Amino acid sequence: MADILELNLDMSGPVRIARDVYWVGSERETPLHANPYLIVDGGEAVIIDGGSRLDFPAVMTKILETGVELASIRAIICQHYDPDLCAALPHFEDLLLPGNVQILTSKPNVSFIRHYGVRMDIVETETLNHRYPFSSGRTLQFIPTPYAHSAGSFMTYDLKTGVLFTGDLFGSSGEDWKLFLSLNPQCQGCTRTLSCNLPDCPVDHILSFHRTVMTSNRALRHAVHLIQEIPALIIAPQHGGVLTQSQDIQLITDKLLTLDHVGIDGLKSKNNDVFFGL
Ligand SMILES: [Fe+2]
Ligand SMILES: [Fe+2]
Repeated sequence: MADILELNLDMSGPVRIARDVYWVGSERETPLHANPYLIVDGGEAVIIDGGSRLDFPAVMTKILETGVELASIRAIICQHYDPDLCAALPHFEDLLLPGNVQILTSKPNVSFIRHYGVRMDIVETETLNHRYPFSSGRTLQFIPTPYAHSAGSFMTYDLKTGVLFTGDLFGSSGEDWKLFLSLNPQCQGCTRTLSCNLPDCPVDHILSFHRTVMTSNRALRHAVHLIQEIPALIIAPQHGGVLTQSQDIQLITDKLLTLDHVGIDGLKSKNNDVFFGL
């Protein structure tokens, strides 16, 4: 199985991003890669943001290639309700044991997720006090990030490994996708916001993505302030690259905290055009 430390990463199978935490996405070429993840803990497993219908065959194959038993998958965490992370839910439902697996999401997402036509139990994270305990005692903590970008968006923090699954936050789009993002040393100390001199600067892509996808300066800043409170070792977004280096996490955090023209705050006043698009 591929591992984060490999130089030429083979993404045709699952990729371990931390102990018992796997990326199980599709490597197909697309301007908007989605990153589904699997956490395995002894005889239990949970899927985080399981992906779209397009990616389901690859995602399911990679899940099985981790060696996990289907009966051990207890939950599918949906950090918001968009199709790029929820549309495969009916396919999962066809394969996973009914009554054995539940959807975990926040209350504002529930009525939207029901439109995917799933019959599985949907458990509101609010009723779990925003925590999911495995039988071993390992705990996942859910952190609401309202309007970043949906009313019910939240992040998931794995206290055992320090992986913070950020959903669309820290996400990015573009053809030049890499599963692990390591910033150019030149990015450190750069004071520009967009219009970087580096060709195809990944920081530019991340900032543009947030201006387009997030709802407002205020919603983004609220979410990033919350991220600053979490001692995350790895940032695992639903799009773009996984960040594993503290200086890179710090740089992106600082840039997002001061980013302006986000969402509604980026509308030009006269013709309602947005400044940036995907
Ligand atoms: Fe989204
Ligand atoms: Fe997304």
